Amino acid sequence: MTDGRIPTTRLGDHGPEVGVQGLGCMGMSFGYGPSDADASRATLERALELGVTLYDTADAYGAGDNERFLAPFLAAHRDEVVIATKFALSIPPDDPTRRIIRNDAPYIRRSVEASLDRLGVDAIDLYYMHRRDVNVPIEETAAVMADLVREGKVKHLGLSEVTGDELRAAHAVHPIAAVQSEWSLFSRDIETGVVPAARELGVALVPYSPLGRGFLTGAFANADHDLGEGDFRRQQPRFTGGNAAANAALLDPVRTVAEAHGATLGQVALAWAQQRAGVHGLPVVPIPGTRKPARVAENTGATRIVLTQDELSLLEPIADKVAGDRYADMSFTSAGRE
Ligand SMILES: NC(=O)c1ccc[n+]([C@@H]2O[C@H](COP(=O)([O-])OP(=O)(O)OC[C@H]3O[C@@H](n4cnc5c(N)ncnc54)[C@H](OP(=O)(O)O)[C@@H]3O)[C@@H](O)[C@H]2O)c1
Repeated sequence: MTDGRIPTTRLGDHGPEVGVQGLGCMGMSFGYGPSDADASRATLERALELGVTLYDTADAYGAGDNERFLAPFLAAHRDEVVIATKFALSIPPDDPTRRIIRNDAPYIRRSVEASLDRLGVDAIDLYYMHRRDVNVPIEETAAVMADLVREGKVKHLGLSEVTGDELRAAHAVHPIAAVQSEWSLFSRDIETGVVPAARELGVALVPYSPLGRGFLTGAFANADHDLGEGDFRRQQPRFTGGNAAANAALLDPVRTVAEAHGATLGQVALAWAQQRAGVHGLPVVPIPGTRKPARVAENTGATRIVLTQDELSLLEPIADKVAGDRYADMSFTSAGRE
């Protein structure tokens, strides 16, 4: 289950046509330990061969490094690829480990120019607000983003980790193509407010971390022991200490379903995320992150797996049993404001 091109879908009523699965590029430069640049480049190419067209990055991934890393690939494949990047996580010069959320007009204007320059493109296909700065009315932020569309710097707009009400308010200013939020077998908080709002407005959902940052594949069981010093997942409550052991036990039904399909755990997690489209009635384009060509083939293979109603029922109770939040500080997430 690893070969062949994936089908396409429209990224909401207002977005471009893309492969039904995208590629998260963050780990190639940031967050998940050392990367092999050649393997990452081969992953970008392999994804494209398999019909992946939505490539996801952000200015904050390695303080611009990830956007710079993607530039040669974009130069070679500009017309084949939909590039998504994000603004809002400002890095203070005196402390590169900190992030300050900024949604104000001067910051957005500086950010878009910097991203265009690093990516080496004339326009960003999908420009997301990465996080919500509650000190700036979302209508003001959406109006600045709408200006960027009118000026041709950006083609489509997206929002990440917004509540249903924030999405409605922004969408009233300018059509939003996609909301990107964490959505997986382990993280389903967006189903209460964000997903119904997106369906109502014709906005696509782009689930990030659909593999639970790798945990759902069984690739690591405890971040304290299995992952390196600088790995971001060591700061995430659900992957450490007693929570990790409790959560690893939740993978048993995933394993059962995987065996029935001759699939991997990760493929079941991705098939579940993809099938949210039918369950909730909106376009869904998960963006699993990988730096390995063989894994991108495995992950796109998940688009050909259809889970039965009984299998979905078996997986249904998992999220409610997960121990520990998805971030140490949940105030940055939609769930933290709903
Ligand atoms: N909007 C936001 O706030 C936000 C937050 C986080 C992430 N994102 C975006 O979403 C993308 C995906 O999320 P994510 O990378 O955090 O998590 P993810 O896709 O759930 O998991 C990525 C992890 O799983 C591993 N992996 C991937 N495929 C695998 C496979 N078939 N078998 C075993 N392990 C596999 C990867 O390792 P290898 O790389 O070594 O394969 C990596 O460690 C990111 O790249 C980023 O673009 C957005």
